Amino acid sequence: MNSFWFAYYCVCLACSMLKTSALTESIAASQSLRDGETMVSNGGSFELGFFSPGNSKNRYLGIWYKNIPVRTIVWVANRKNPIKDMSGSLMINSTGSLLLSDGTNTVVWSTYSTRIPQSPVAQLLDSGNLVVRDIKDGDADSYLWQSFDYPSDTLLPGMKLGWNLRTHLNRRLSSWKSSDDPSPGELSNGIELDAYPQGVMRKGSRKYFRGGPWNGLRFSGAPELKSNPLFDFKFVSNQDEVYYQYRLLNTSVITRLVLNETTSTRQRYVWAEPDMSWKLYASVPRDYCDTYGLCGANGICIISDSPVCKCLEGFKPNFPQSWDAMDWSRGCIHNEPLDCRRKHGFIKFSGLKLPDTTYSWVNESMNLWECREECLKNCSCTAYTNSDIRGGGNGCALWFGDLVDIKQVSGGGQDLYIRMPTPHRENRSPVQIAMIVVPIASVCGLLLGVCYCFRQKLKPKGENEEDDHPDVFQGEDLDLPLFDLGTVARATENFSMNKKLGEGGFGPVYKGLLVDGQNIAVKRLSMSSGQGVNEFKNEVKLIAKLQHRNLVKLLGCCIEGDQKIVIYEYMPNGSLDSFLFDQTRGPSLDWSKRFNIICGIGRGLLYLHQDSRLRIIHRDLKASNVLLDDELNPKISDFGMARTFGGDQVAENTRRIVGTYGYMAPEYALYGLFSVKSDVFSFGILLLEIVSGKKNRGFDPSQNHHNLIGYAWQLWTEGRPLELVDSSLDYRLIQPEVKRCIHVGLLCVQQNPEDRPNMSTVVLMLNGESYLPQPKQPGLLIDVVPSETCSSSSKNESCSVTDFTITTLEAR
Ligand SMILES: *[C@@H]1O[C@H](CO)[C@@H](O)[C@H](O)[C@H]1NC(C)=O
Ligand SMILES: *[C@@H]1O[C@H](CO)[C@@H](O)[C@H](O)[C@H]1NC(C)=O
Ligand SMILES: *[C@@H]1O[C@H](CO)[C@@H](O)[C@H](O)[C@H]1NC(C)=O
Ligand SMILES: *[C@@H]1O[C@H](CO)[C@@H](O)[C@H](O)[C@H]1NC(C)=O
Ligand SMILES: *[C@@H]1O[C@H](CO)[C@@H](O)[C@H](O)[C@H]1NC(C)=O
Ligand SMILES: *[C@@H]1O[C@H](CO)[C@@H](O)[C@H](O)[C@H]1NC(C)=O
Ligand SMILES: *[C@@H]1O[C@H](CO)[C@@H](O)[C@H](O)[C@H]1NC(C)=O
Ligand SMILES: *[C@@H]1O[C@H](CO)[C@@H](O)[C@H](O)[C@H]1NC(C)=O
Ligand SMILES: *[C@@H]1O[C@H](CO)[C@@H](O)[C@H](O)[C@H]1NC(C)=O
Repeated sequence: MNSFWFAYYCVCLACSMLKTSALTESIAASQSLRDGETMVSNGGSFELGFFSPGNSKNRYLGIWYKNIPVRTIVWVANRKNPIKDMSGSLMINSTGSLLLSDGTNTVVWSTYSTRIPQSPVAQLLDSGNLVVRDIKDGDADSYLWQSFDYPSDTLLPGMKLGWNLRTHLNRRLSSWKSSDDPSPGELSNGIELDAYPQGVMRKGSRKYFRGGPWNGLRFSGAPELKSNPLFDFKFVSNQDEVYYQYRLLNTSVITRLVLNETTSTRQRYVWAEPDMSWKLYASVPRDYCDTYGLCGANGICIISDSPVCKCLEGFKPNFPQSWDAMDWSRGCIHNEPLDCRRKHGFIKFSGLKLPDTTYSWVNESMNLWECREECLKNCSCTAYTNSDIRGGGNGCALWFGDLVDIKQVSGGGQDLYIRMPTPHRENRSPVQIAMIVVPIASVCGLLLGVCYCFRQKLKPKGENEEDDHPDVFQGEDLDLPLFDLGTVARATENFSMNKKLGEGGFGPVYKGLLVDGQNIAVKRLSMSSGQGVNEFKNEVKLIAKLQHRNLVKLLGCCIEGDQKIVIYEYMPNGSLDSFLFDQTRGPSLDWSKRFNIICGIGRGLLYLHQDSRLRIIHRDLKASNVLLDDELNPKISDFGMARTFGGDQVAENTRRIVGTYGYMAPEYALYGLFSVKSDVFSFGILLLEIVSGKKNRGFDPSQNHHNLIGYAWQLWTEGRPLELVDSSLDYRLIQPEVKRCIHVGLLCVQQNPEDRPNMSTVVLMLNGESYLPQPKQPGLLIDVVPSETCSSSSKNESCSVTDFTITTLEAR
């Protein structure tokens, strides 16, 4: 009675044998194919004929691989109506219908034709597709009927799984009842036309397993079925069609995807013969957590946990007693109910299989921010995310009502932003603000009227919560806290030298301690910009809304008179350069940490370039502008500064060049041309520095190279790129990853900005999800600096050509 059903939904491989002699055959009107005769596709791959499955004596018309010794059936015509003896025959009548009849001339199976042909023929194509076409019709690809439109249990390369919306044709796979009986079993698999279409496997009418919606690269819940050197998977969703399809990239293997249900345990091989065996490439469902809706509404299934079901953060069991008894079907509810009259926030969850999209909505042209706004408009919207994760994420998908069938997916899950009540923020009434403000104002006594001093109470606990979820968006009404100068001065002991952490591109940075015990980093912008107070304030407010786990969080600002100060969260582990270029601290960054840092910086920069609403070009990305949190996660600092500081935002050309020599792209350093691609250049330098543990500028001249990229390029062209790697790293085990990083680094520092990849491509490349072209010659800036622009006499050269200032420059 406890029979477990397993669905095999797998792509299997076999190596092909020598092809037999090609035999082209077709049947035209007045011809027929009798039991015992077969039709072979013109390339010799497939064969059509009559067969008896398993131990059955019944006869069926089917298609199988011609060259595979153990018969593997890929399609069956008369699945439900077997012929009892060997009297069957297949004919085509003058109107283009295929007719399968038995000895008594009873038609057991037939097709219909979409139009009246002049001279119809039935032909088996080498793809395994049985087609009816009109030989008088010039267009060879225009079929009157094709077996690919009526799949059995097998999806072959080139077949479509899903819908033709014009004809309402739905191509679904259905399993065989048993190995003796090809009639449709309980299990079926197809694409369902929810607003956000998803792959669903059903047992009877019940959902059994959900592959989830297609996210541009793969089904959300089946990360292994994504494109790779062997397969190319694709999903098409437009007004005419919604389908899934795969293609084979390497023709020396044979593949099929088959839906199979069995009461036995899983087996890895379909059959075995010397040198030729079907090998399981992948199969779903994979584990217990793939059971549809196992954890109920708003629950999450984590296979490595015991018990596997949990409520999502912010939710609690609906019926705690049954939940504790491991009956999770009643699911979870919000800790605090969502009150539609209030404003809400979102918590970002990562690494998920997206929930059931039965109640969903999609707009493919919205970005993440518009998506969030759209969700906030409708109180029954419970979650949102990008509908397409390619290129860092595009499009908008919304969910309504309970979130069902969420699972944690290791290596390939997605982000989902789930709506939460945020009462501690929303509670803030004007009266309470006054109560906070007045005491601070009267104590500090420095309120000069210019600076509206209103400090939001930053509870240490709240901070920690947000550190776990740095992407929690805050209530819309949240203004940027303005600190008054007195508070900042006290926190930094009057900007004492002892408190100075360093000197950034825009001024000195101090460590500060607030009265409530919170550490802060204070940046005092040293140059005066042409910007007015309000412009500056608005700009900083916008920047403060940029929140990403790889960006340092801006806590507030202070504006008094000419003073412009920004306040950040404090990072105890300091900057990346203090690790990277330090003999003693360097080794604490092993390869996996370095790779994590590289990818984190990449994601942070991608967010600035593309995902944030502001589209920020950093212009001064370097090791000292990357800070490390207590788990050594990277956070980019000083982003938006060039913009805040009144840099020329729209033009592609700026007269004031900010940036650091050694990281600047040639076109930027020389001509002031900046773009996302000049940031990509800096990222490439930084990447090579992280891999090598060496600075680009101040590179050891004894090596006879001007700089690190010159050295990296030489090693690359000589085919020994791994010699670049920091000698303190034991990288042997992960050579391909290290090599990929160096490769990506060199692509980023190419001389011509157009050759450099954009950050979304860089992020894909780092994860091995994008093709890596051969890099071209890097931009070796030092070779092209015109000598007259710099005086090379002093230790730190200062270049000055019409407002052309480079802040840090070292001698060669
Ligand atoms: C061909 O077969 C189809 C299906 O049975 C039938 O509807 C059609 O009338 C037949 N055509 C002729 C000319 O008999
Ligand atoms: C399903 O797969 C198993 C193992 O590969 C095989 O033994 C069985 O015959 C298959 N069932 C059907 C109905 O094809
Ligand atoms: C195709 O697959 C075969 C066998 O797995 C392998 O030897 C061959 O290198 C592959 N070809 C390509 C172009 O990937
Ligand atoms: C989708 O979003 C875009 C951009 O916000 C908007 O112009 C368009 O009207 C939206 N389409 C639908 C169907 O809502
Ligand atoms: C909110 O969305 C639901 C589901 O799409 C819809 O039925 C309802 O009308 C929407 N409400 C508003 C106010 O737009
Ligand atoms: C900071 O300066 C103020 C006024 O100039 C002075 O009263 C105060 O003692 C100074 N504080 C510190 C820590 O130096
Ligand atoms: C990073 O900071 C944390 C917290 O201050 C500290 O425990 C840890 O030792 C630091 N890591 C390194 C490598 O210095
Ligand atoms: C990034 O580059 C890829 C490949 O060249 C391109 O398809 C994509 O549209 C680019 N993305 C952006 C935001 O420019
Ligand atoms: C180098 O720059 C530093 C800081 O900008 C300055 O203090 C120093 O005088 C400069 N040295 C020379 C030799 O110009």
